[in-house]
Amino acid sequence: MALDDLYREVILDHYSRPRNKGTMDDADIKVEGANPLCGDELSIHVKLAQGKISDVKFVGRGCSISQASASMMTEQIKGKTLSEAKALIGQFKSMMHGHPASEEELGDLMALQGVRKFPVRIKCATLSWVALEQGVDEFQDSHKKVVAKASTEVE
Ligand code: FES
Repeated sequence: MALDDLYREVILDHYSRPRNKGTMDDADIKVEGANPLCGDELSIHVKLAQGKISDVKFVGRGCSISQASASMMTEQIKGKTLSEAKALIGQFKSMMHGHPASEEELGDLMALQGVRKFPVRIKCATLSWVALEQGVDEFQDSHKKVVAKASTEVE
């Protein structure tokens, strides 16, 4: 099977059987993202335990690329620390913007590199990733503020 066909199959598989679709009531991170080019939106919910992502869900509407990308993202970030998740976000975005990528680090996500040929669709592939990045940044910022406030209260 040609590599392009294999990649197409991976994308279709995640689109037709999305992994981790849904929401969580007790998520530690809840964030929404929108693709400005088409108006499609999705939400990502992340649960943390012992400093790692113990569960992640996504829900929303969008094209096959955005849905497959979100599904693959949830599979890949489960079990990672927030720093590791941010590193993966960086690697994925870098690949989508034309930089070389390593299959060892990105696994099935390599299937999305073909999207780079269609610049208008790159935002579809990165929609969930940009949202997750924003959610992680907001969580870490608010966490830092809580820690800083607690330390000034102790003084
Ligand atoms: Fe809307 Fe792809 S066309 S996310």
